[in-house]
Amino acid sequence: MIQVIDLVKHYGKFTAVGGVSLNVRPGQIQGFLGPNGAGKTTTICIIAGLLKPTSGHVVIDGHDLATRPEAAKAALGFIPDRPFLYEKLTAREFLRFHGGLYGLDGDGMDRRIAEMLELFELSAWAGELVEAFSHGMKQRLVMCAAFLHRPKAVVVDEPMVGLDPRGARLIKDVFRAMSRKGVGILMSTHTIEVAEEMCDDISIILQGRIIARGTVDELRSLAGGQDEQLTPVFLKLTGGSGFQEIPDAL
Ligand SMILES: Nc1ncnc2c1ncn2[C@@H]1O[C@H](COP(=O)(O)OP(=O)(O)O)[C@@H](O)[C@H]1O
Ligand SMILES: [Mg+2]
Repeated sequence: MIQVIDLVKHYGKFTAVGGVSLNVRPGQIQGFLGPNGAGKTTTICIIAGLLKPTSGHVVIDGHDLATRPEAAKAALGFIPDRPFLYEKLTAREFLRFHGGLYGLDGDGMDRRIAEMLELFELSAWAGELVEAFSHGMKQRLVMCAAFLHRPKAVVVDEPMVGLDPRGARLIKDVFRAMSRKGVGILMSTHTIEVAEEMCDDISIILQGRIIARGTVDELRSLAGGQDEQLTPVFLKLTGGSGFQEIPDAL
């Protein structure tokens, strides 16, 4: 559903992404796991069509993003880590605006908006201005928007950051429900617990390269034991640097 083929992104002499390939199948939740600065957001912004790669290809639902950008983007939902929202719109107005960008209209769009607001427990807030929303509510509103046009694939950047347990639970349940409907989801995270709990397959990225991939069990056995938690595996693979906060150069 999402194919990433040998993606490279240079910033001057610095290589942020150094040849990443990924394959997200329909109905799969694939974890994109790595420490801060590993290249997750850069890769995801390229998949979403916001950033041009230095080289490599992205294919979404069979459409090459470089040659058929409209078809590729129509098949994709994107949930950024720092969402941009129009504070002076109500939740419903924002979703209508977003739906319009994807060619939705009329009663069909309004029914779908109501369905998504219900799913993300925002129905009571449909007529409220976005500026009154908490971080968690904004996050959920962005997710409503991302799923509105029934995308076949979704990329989501660090969805659990800053959420309370109830909000995190809701989002996990919705992702699972969407994957059961066949949506392929690529989800970045720097916390192993999130990947371990939610993902069928995990690709581990370090310094712009995929250093390991597999199911949770396969990655565990890489460290030599079925009983081992994934955390020591991750620390071993990343040379112990896994959880240190690397300050953003930006
Ligand atoms: N516009 C940019 N110019 C220069 N370097 C950048 C730019 N954007 C990101 N980087 C660098 O690329 C690397 C990967 O960043 P990013 O993709 O945000 O990592 P992650 O999302 O895994 O934390 C980091 O070292 C970051 O500082
Ligand atoms: Mg990031």
